[in-house]
Amino acid sequence: MGYSEIQLYYKNVTAEVVGEEHGITSEQFKTIAQKTKPLILKINEERKNGKIPYRELPYKIEISQQVEELVGQLHYKCENLVVLGIGGSALGNIALQTALNPYMYNIDQEQRTGPRLFVFDNVDPPQFVSFLDWLGEGLEKTIFNVISKSGRTSETAAQFMIIRQLLLDKLGPESLREHVVATTDAKQGTLRKIADESNLRCLEVPDGVGGRFSVLSAVGLFSAAMCGIDIDSLLAGARDMDRRVSCEDFYKNPAAINAAINYHFYNQGKKISVMMPYRYALKDLADWYRQLWAESLGKREDLAGNEVLVGPTPVKALGATDQHSQVQLYREGPNDKLFTFLQVENFDKDLKIGPSPDCALELDFLADKDLSTLLNSEKIATEYALIESKRPCLTVLFDKINAYCVGQFIYLFEVTTSIAGALFNINPYDQPAVELGKEATFALMGKSGSEDFARQIRSLSEIDESFLV
Ligand code: PA5
Repeated sequence: MGYSEIQLYYKNVTAEVVGEEHGITSEQFKTIAQKTKPLILKINEERKNGKIPYRELPYKIEISQQVEELVGQLHYKCENLVVLGIGGSALGNIALQTALNPYMYNIDQEQRTGPRLFVFDNVDPPQFVSFLDWLGEGLEKTIFNVISKSGRTSETAAQFMIIRQLLLDKLGPESLREHVVATTDAKQGTLRKIADESNLRCLEVPDGVGGRFSVLSAVGLFSAAMCGIDIDSLLAGARDMDRRVSCEDFYKNPAAINAAINYHFYNQGKKISVMMPYRYALKDLADWYRQLWAESLGKREDLAGNEVLVGPTPVKALGATDQHSQVQLYREGPNDKLFTFLQVENFDKDLKIGPSPDCALELDFLADKDLSTLLNSEKIATEYALIESKRPCLTVLFDKINAYCVGQFIYLFEVTTSIAGALFNINPYDQPAVELGKEATFALMGKSGSEDFARQIRSLSEIDESFLV
């Protein structure tokens, strides 16, 4: 078996496999196909009218050219690349690095073709202090890529303000241009203002592309290219998937089928969506998907303004690790989940398991087998066990993990999200609920003009001693 493209396998969600109560019958599949088909056309039309700008990213050759040019200028003098960003300004960068570079990339010089990569997507002081202590004099050979579309995200702004001061103190005002790349909006926002004022090197977050849909722009491409990832293949894979997910024949469109199945099971009470890769390299793509799915589909209102409170809860798991952590629940707990496995056919590196010790011949079944055979057998075994418990399972099949397949995967799930958004009749591109928390943080941190709001929040957070134990 070999796959030149990633493929979606959906037989194991059908009633034929998991039974009528928990599977999708052919009648139900036809019904959901009828509902989804016009939405493929609608989305294709919206895209044609420029309303879904992320769809064009794989074709924006000028972005990859600009990225490559900057990489050419900075690569030779950079031993460490530090990404400062959060949410959609970090998760794609982490996912590409974990998927496409070796596990020991940062530790082993032999295994890397670019700088070490660190992505700080939190404001955890001991974590940052530990890093800066380690960095020491290495600051001189470090590039900081601050990524923020708005520039006013507290976490990213705070990290950047620490680094900016450090650079000014240790290396002087000229160092900002040498050591910082700002990825932000082309025209507006706080980071744009800072970048213009300090004459920083800049890359753009394209207009109309939200953070979680931006990994195939300079947001994700710069750190990837700096670290030796083949961004041309990544984009070529996305273009290949674009052809498939634009297809108006529902039965040939993997994003439409994926979205439709997810939507159907959500409405059948399976409101939790578990993504479980069986390769460590894919674990952060599951994390990226978790944000894409949650922020895009978790919405209070539909497009007509009715309160709907919808959204599947995405969960990430890792095979085989989480077989020993989650599978008990997955098999015997509530039947409220749809599973999506990620399975890889070919491994670029493998190991033979050694012979069994004479005193432990019961381990002989493992002896001399490939480790990849064990991992993939565990995937099949877990899926078998879930099916036996009537749990519906999808699988995304990868021929191998390379930039081309990862580009396909990213685009497949982005378009799946757009179609799922249309099925739920919500706007998948905004995140109004995140804004309130951001504003509340500004107020608590003393932003002027927010004093009343800060008082209101503080009164809610005062500790009521009678509830303390
Ligand atoms: O997907 C999104 O839109 C968010 O997760 C943002 O990426 C995140 O909030 C960071 O925003 P910004 O890039 O403006 O700092």
